[in-house]
Amino acid sequence: MDYFHYQNDRLFAEEVDVLDAARKIKTPFYLYSKRTILHHFHQIQEAFQEVRPLICFSVKSNSNHTLLNILNRNGSGFDLVSGWELKRVLRAGGDPRKTVFAGVGKTREEMLWALKAGIFMFNCESVNEILLLDRLARDLDRYADIAIRINPDIVPKTHRHIITGKKDTKFGISVYEVKKVLKIVRDCTRIRLKGLHFHIGSQITETAPYIQTIHRMLKLIDELRKARFPVEYLNIGGGLGIIYNKEKPATPAEFSAKVIPLIRGRDLKLIMEPGRYIVGNSGILVTRVTYIKKSLNKIFVVVDAGMNSLIRPALYEAYHDIWPLVRRKKTFTVDVVGPICETGDLFAKDRVIGRVEENEYLAFKSAGAYGMVMASTYNSRPLPGEVLADGRRFKLI
Ligand code: LLP
Repeated sequence: MDYFHYQNDRLFAEEVDVLDAARKIKTPFYLYSKRTILHHFHQIQEAFQEVRPLICFSVKSNSNHTLLNILNRNGSGFDLVSGWELKRVLRAGGDPRKTVFAGVGKTREEMLWALKAGIFMFNCESVNEILLLDRLARDLDRYADIAIRINPDIVPKTHRHIITGKKDTKFGISVYEVKKVLKIVRDCTRIRLKGLHFHIGSQITETAPYIQTIHRMLKLIDELRKARFPVEYLNIGGGLGIIYNKEKPATPAEFSAKVIPLIRGRDLKLIMEPGRYIVGNSGILVTRVTYIKKSLNKIFVVVDAGMNSLIRPALYEAYHDIWPLVRRKKTFTVDVVGPICETGDLFAKDRVIGRVEENEYLAFKSAGAYGMVMASTYNSRPLPGEVLADGRRFKLI
């Protein structure tokens, strides 16, 4: 669901004519729809309202200042994977008491920032990290609240690069070893174990792997409570899938209908870390056609966005719909490529798209998550701009 649509064959973002923006702003640029972002955020809130979870928007999916600020004003917390993400959240007005911090490589410096800022919880991924955090907290005369990130050994169906809960990945503390770790946690005087965390992967369209994992977590929580660890929180990570092409992901309502009964009456508070679900369908990448190049029996549409602007197709063979800003009846079958000197700088192969001419524009759909945050200056190209559509107005953000 999104607020990008054609009106008289012109692509609109909410009530903004995207062509109007493209004529004023240097391409390529990301264009986000505020209404779409809030729609998705509220959809999750409503689906889970019975248990009032702490929803921590996953900053890694899109860390634009204005977007963080909008989400903050609408009550979102934040999920971080670096100290620099923390800085961005704080600068955007985010409440440190609503932030959680995961990652296998948190440095001493980053942990100090987070301790001083007073974040809500560290999602700890190794014994040595817990020991270092304990020492740093003692030096600052503070306590660190933590959740242990469990690697549950569950494999959802998604791209192999974004599976994180399989036992041979680097993430979390193995569900098979957690008991050993508890002895160490018990000896840490400045660590308070408050919860368990998991994140099994991204772009997951089914509920089954979550349910399976939650069952494992609940069993562990029962054991922890028996051992007198006051576990109050279960953080179920992010990962909710969206529609790029023909996927049929579970909706937040379908998801919550499966999850809530499992935790009802257990005196457990839920934390969630959605990223893609909130921003994925909320953004497009607008690009200009530099050349239509005919070669042997192929047509290449060469655009001014490259794998440096949106790396998902090159990295994961990800599919992004391609919509012309001005829709015509005619189509053609083309390869859409960028200007970067790599064969992998390819957005679509043998794709049927609406006909465009040189100097006209195309939009890559569903580019709001893991788009701008993964952009680079490869080939010394500048980063794309970012624009927000809000009703009839748009502005550079
Ligand atoms: N929590 C943790 C601990 C994570 O590692 C992630 C994403 C999330 C939450 C948010 O997951 P989401 O709701 O967005 O699925 N660059 C890849 C995706 C990498 C995901 C990394 N972790 C892509 O473009 O598909």
